[in-house]
This record gives sequence, structure tokens and C-alpha cells, in this order.
Amino acid sequence: MSRYVMLDGPDGCGKSSQARALCEWLDGQGARVLHVREPGSTPVGEALRQLLLAKTTGALLPLTEALLFSAARAQTVLAVVAPALQRGEVVVAERGYLSTLVYQALAFEPGLDFDWVLDLQRRVHGPTLPDVIFVLDVPPAVAAQRRRWRTDDRIEARGADYHDRVRAGFLRAAASEPRAVLIDAARPFAQVQDDLRRRISEALP
Ligand SMILES: Nc1ncnc2c1ncn2[C@@H]1O[C@H](COP(=O)(O)OP(=O)(O)OP(=O)(O)O)[C@@H](O)[C@H]1O
Ligand SMILES: [Mg+2]
Repeated sequence: MSRYVMLDGPDGCGKSSQARALCEWLDGQGARVLHVREPGSTPVGEALRQLLLAKTTGALLPLTEALLFSAARAQTVLAVVAPALQRGEVVVAERGYLSTLVYQALAFEPGLDFDWVLDLQRRVHGPTLPDVIFVLDVPPAVAAQRRRWRTDDRIEARGADYHDRVRAGFLRAAASEPRAVLIDAARPFAQVQDDLRRRISEALP
């Protein structure tokens, strides 16, 4: 049975490592699994990712960012995710439209109009919507600690205030999004992974 599972949350919350572990587990359960990341997982998506995350790109307007992230998303959702679901695969996606609502509408000051961004995301996704979005919630200090070994990208390099607004934005967006399930991702890795597996088993038999 095809399923579209999305992991989202602040920079360093654990999306990539939890997604990898979920894919291994799903594979072990006999599912055909496709792991995608946003922006990315298509040639144009990866090129846009490089552009969006490189510090040399400099400042962009929130509108420009929202359109570029959404362009990458359209290509990933329509050209990669939808066909995989058609083939009966389980798709595990890192990030998605909640990130655009949070980073470009809620965390920027002044940010974009939330409903306008939501409408754009509806047009990008069409009928191909995630079955569940796990929002990995961590306090900004914990996320910063988990990122301490890597060099910040263009967006991570924004100040602590921005990251506070990102965390608050995810909590708000998760509360208003029926597909979202809030996960306490400050717990040890294995506990978070067990929680995700249990919820997937319950929600997606
Ligand atoms: N629950 C956890 N407890 C402790 N460390 C964790 C936990 N989850 C992930 N980590 C570690 O935190 C670091 C960041 O995790 P990861 O790269 O998966 O986050 P991310 O959300 O994908 O980050 P980014 O937004 O930058 O892509 C990694 O070193 C990972 O091993
Ligand atoms: Mg990651």
C-alpha cells in the first residue's frame, strides 16, 4: 500500500537521521521505500537546494525564497513522489510545505501572508498530499547543539531570534494542520524512532 510520510521541523531536529532509520525499518518490513528530501531529489531540486543554502547567494526576499522552494517541491512531488506512490511505494520525505509556511510566512519579519503561501502549496501538491507529517519539535538550544559540528548554511546562519520564531512557527503550523503530529524530538534518538514507528504502524497499516 502506497503511503507518503513527511518529517519536518527546525534545522538539526533529527529529520535526516530519523528518516534514514525509518527507511531501513520499512525496508525490513518488506515495503518498497523511496527516501526524498526537499528541496532536492531531482536535478533541478538539487540545483535549487545548492542555490538556496549557499551563503554566497546572499539575502533573498521571502517571496523569492517561497517561490524557489515551491518550484523545487513541485518537481519533486509531481515527477518523483506521485509516480512512486502510483507504483505502490512508501515515500519518506524530509521537509515539505510546512517548512515554507514556517520559514517564509511565520518566521520572517515581515513574512508572507500565511493563507497565500498555503494556497500556493495546495497548487504545488494537487492531490498528492502527505498522509502524515511528523513535526520533530526541539528547543532551539538543543537543535543548535546538534548542529554544532557542521558549518551553518545560509538559512541556519540566521540569528537565534529567527530560530526561536521557526520553533514557535512549527508549533503553530502543526496545530493548524490536521495531517501534522507533533513529536517530542528532544528525547534520545531511539525513543523518537520507536515513537515514529509505532505511530506509522497504527496510522498506516
Ligand atoms: N534524538 C536525538 N538525540 C541526540 N542527537 C540526535 C537526535 N536526533 C538526531 N541527532 C543528531 O543530531 C544531528 C542532527 O541530526 P540530523 O542531521 O538528522 O538533523 P536534520 O533535522 O536533518 O538537520 P538539517 O535540518 O540541518 O538537515 C546528527 O548528528 C544526529 O545524529
Ligand atoms: Mg537533514
